[in-house]
Order: sequence, then C-alpha cells, then structure tokens
Amino acid sequence: MSHEDEPSASAGGAGAPPHPAEPNRAPPVTREYGTERITVQWHAERCIHSANCVRALPRVFDPRRRPWVDAQAADADAIAAAVLRCPTGALHFVRHDGGAQEQPDVPTTLTPIRDGPLYVRGNVEVRALDGHVIRDATRVSVCRCGLARQIPFCDNTCRKAHWHELSPSADRVGPTGGPESAPPSTD
Ligand code: SF4
Ligand code: FES
Repeated sequence: MSHEDEPSASAGGAGAPPHPAEPNRAPPVTREYGTERITVQWHAERCIHSANCVRALPRVFDPRRRPWVDAQAADADAIAAAVLRCPTGALHFVRHDGGAQEQPDVPTTLTPIRDGPLYVRGNVEVRALDGHVIRDATRVSVCRCGLARQIPFCDNTCRKAHWHELSPSADRVGPTGGPESAPPSTD
C-alpha cells in the first residue's frame, strides 16, 4: 500500500493522526519526511491527535493530505518549533543545517490535562514493572484514566470512553491544560 492511500491511524494504518474521538490503533511505524535541512520523524503509535502540530503549522502538518507532513512547506526553524509542541513525542526532528537539535526541558514538568493524560516534558526514562527502560524521551503523555491499552502511555482511549476525572479543581488541574496543549474539542 502506498504512503498516499494508506488509511488513517484510527483505522489501523499510519498515514495520519487518528481521529480525535478514536483511540490510537496505529502500528509502531516511524515515518520520516525530510529535506536537506531537516528530517521530521513521526512515531505513529504515540500520536493522540492533540493537533498541536496542526495548529502550530498547518501548511506543514495537514492530516487530510498524504503524506500528511510536507517538510518543504516551511523553514527548518519553524518546523522544529512546531515539532516541539507535540506533547507525546510522536514528532521529533533532526537538523542537518547546523540548527539546534532538541534539548530536554529543564526543569522537567508534569502538566495534567483535564479529563486526559499527564504531559511530561524533560529528561524522562519510562520504566516497566521489572525496571527496564521502555522509553527514553523528552516528551511523554502518561495515561491518568487507567484505560489505555499501552499503559503507561495515553492512547486516546480516555476520549473515546468520555472519561471524566473525579472532582476536577482549578487548583489541581490546569484550565484544560492551556491553549498550547489542550486536545481540541472536536467530538
Ligand atoms: S502534536 Fe503530536 S500527538 Fe498531536 S497530532 Fe501532532 S503528532 Fe499527533
Ligand atoms: S488518559 Fe488517555 S488513555 Fe488514559
């Protein structure tokens, strides 16, 4: 199946981010979209359709297009900045033009998203019960609902299940996580 006509991630393919109302059933596929200046890497199974990338740079990240990432459509600095807004680590970049590579945020931050995951940014090692490292990351979206099929990572099952946390409080939880990080209310 070609890159262009592959079904969406929510249908089991990996051609574009999953539909907002669907958990992510994408297989563990990494796609690369590159120019001589920058390569964008997309880890399909980590994408939860927060759409931060689409809002940041829609001419580059367009889930209705195949391929859905056009690395020619903006300069490398703009693409790198948009990639860094991906809260799950589904997107990464490698610069080939001497531009700065990604550095982990300091300090490490944990930001709960109302009725959704915990966004973690920093120098992160995620470990399994037996202690072995299952992901070494700069950005991770951790499940808070307990329903994810790939615990400890959110896979959007929270949205599919319309999960709501108990007694949300403005003190305890950010106002939908802030405009940069909140999943869109499209369902
Ligand atoms: S910002 Fe990351 S998780 Fe959100 S739609 Fe883009 S690739 Fe997927
Ligand atoms: S918080 Fe998203 S699947 Fe649990």
